[in-house]
Amino acid sequence: MVASAFGALAIFFVAASSTNAQSSPGVTVPPGAVYVNPLEYNVVGADYTQWRNSSLVGGFNPANTTPPFIQIFDTSFLEATGPSATIRLIASNPGFAFAHEAPIYVPDLNVLFFSSSNSGPLGYSGWYNSSVVGMINMTEVDMALASTTSDVNVQVQTLNLSDTVQMVNGGTGPYKGNLLFVTAGRALLPPSVMVVNPNPPHNVTVLLDNFYGRQFNSLNDVKVLPGTDIMFFTDPSYGWLVGYRPEPMLPSQVYRFDPSTGQVRVVADQFVHPNGIAFTHDGRTVFVSDSGISSATAGVNQTLPATIYQFDVDPATQSFKNRRVFAYVDSGFPDGIQLDTMGNVYSGCGEGTHVWNSNGTLIGKFFLNSTSAQMIFTKSGLAILASETIYLVNIQAQGTNLITY
Ligand SMILES: *[C@@H]1O[C@H](CO)[C@@H](O)[C@H](O)[C@H]1NC(C)=O
Ligand SMILES: *[C@@H]1O[C@H](CO)[C@@H](O)[C@H](O)[C@H]1NC(C)=O
Ligand SMILES: *[C@@H]1O[C@H](CO)[C@@H](O)[C@H](O)[C@H]1NC(C)=O
Ligand SMILES: *[C@@H]1O[C@H](CO)[C@@H](O)[C@H](O)[C@H]1NC(C)=O
Ligand SMILES: *[C@@H]1O[C@H](CO)[C@@H](O)[C@H](O)[C@H]1NC(C)=O
Ligand SMILES: *[C@@H]1O[C@H](CO)[C@@H](O)[C@H](O)[C@H]1NC(C)=O
Ligand SMILES: *[C@@H]1O[C@H](CO)[C@@H](O)[C@H](O)[C@H]1NC(C)=O
Ligand SMILES: *[C@@H]1O[C@H](CO)[C@@H](O)[C@H](O)[C@H]1NC(C)=O
Repeated sequence: MVASAFGALAIFFVAASSTNAQSSPGVTVPPGAVYVNPLEYNVVGADYTQWRNSSLVGGFNPANTTPPFIQIFDTSFLEATGPSATIRLIASNPGFAFAHEAPIYVPDLNVLFFSSSNSGPLGYSGWYNSSVVGMINMTEVDMALASTTSDVNVQVQTLNLSDTVQMVNGGTGPYKGNLLFVTAGRALLPPSVMVVNPNPPHNVTVLLDNFYGRQFNSLNDVKVLPGTDIMFFTDPSYGWLVGYRPEPMLPSQVYRFDPSTGQVRVVADQFVHPNGIAFTHDGRTVFVSDSGISSATAGVNQTLPATIYQFDVDPATQSFKNRRVFAYVDSGFPDGIQLDTMGNVYSGCGEGTHVWNSNGTLIGKFFLNSTSAQMIFTKSGLAILASETIYLVNIQAQGTNLITY
């Protein structure tokens, strides 16, 4: 565990500001955190100066707190954060979106793996250039954080991977000791599902790179159904929208792949841009985010989904059934998804990471004022990838087990 950066707890008292709001009891929050009682903001009146007209700008920060900070909308979030959680930078490289997606934490090595962005100029990737996979040693992070109360910047190493690895965008594991990645492909090189040795020489085995002879569009994220070794992955058309893949030849949908039989089939469709995916620990429920609001370089349409959908996993067929809305996000769009062991759902959104309870009520945010595409639980806390930076929050909650033996 990371030593708490600050000793004392801050006490934040919420005062009733209008007759419509109820007074709240004093709520003790972690240092620097802010409790935003929804009752205080249900009615703000016509003269409210902070009306938002874009989901993709700013964020809901009524107390004007300086980011990064923990924002609490329901005191049950404190059970996840614990009393002394703080948000600290553990790596930064301004100008290079080195830590964008595909986080995999390997407990045996205490190392965190991730990939750089395959969209936007700060990813330095495109039709002619792949993204890169990096790693950070969490033992070194723990030592650096223990030596100061400030942010730290621990050296990131780049993996030397073979040319079959093009635009890593999603990852999970360890899967039978390996990193399990999905790639978005690049130019005419195919998107793929692959396993990578987490140790040098980081050799690669591709498991799947087509759907009965047709290339996928640009694979985005992957998870393994708990208790099985069956992989489920999303395939939006961002590779084409961003300009590093040819025109899509398949709908934007979610696939099931059984590596022991080689069989691959579709388990859910009717998305604009299916993105992140995560199962509950019992494997009975699955979440899929739809980032339809953003078509990358093709623009933003605020009437399209920025929505996490929830499904039942059919126990007989493993197809996704009974689709319903789990949460619509107020800022940006939901990207990668992870769950903690209490059933809370975490997703990378426009201004940080949002957290909902299992009913879909927003209980809190890790408010960064920058997009976080993905995050992952480590032994040291929740590591949040924010492209040019990685944050670590020493929260109390533990992630669901992502290891496949
Ligand atoms: C949204 O708000 C900003 C800042 O107040 C303003 O500049 C912009 O014109 C507004 N856009 C629309 C579509 O209302
Ligand atoms: C290719 O990407 C690397 C970083 O991954 C960057 O250093 C290099 O400048 C890029 N090359 C081009 C031609 O963009
Ligand atoms: C991580 O850093 C620790 C401390 O320097 C070192 O003992 C360990 O070998 C490193 N792990 C890896 C996988 O490089
Ligand atoms: C990649 O190769 C370079 C040059 O051979 C080496 O210095 C570096 O340690 C390698 N990175 C990893 C993670 O093995
Ligand atoms: C890496 O190479 C070793 C030795 O050939 C092999 O046993 C292992 O399965 C390979 N791992 C991957 C992920 O390809
Ligand atoms: C936004 O999306 C809706 C629903 O697909 C569509 O009807 C509308 O034309 C779109 N607006 C713009 C400006 O593209
Ligand atoms: C979910 O909603 C039900 C019905 O209101 C309630 O009993 C339960 O406590 C809620 N669960 C959480 C985690 O809030
Ligand atoms: C949030 O980030 C934007 C740039 O992305 C910056 O203009 C703004 O000042 C930041 N807001 C705060 C409160 O730090």
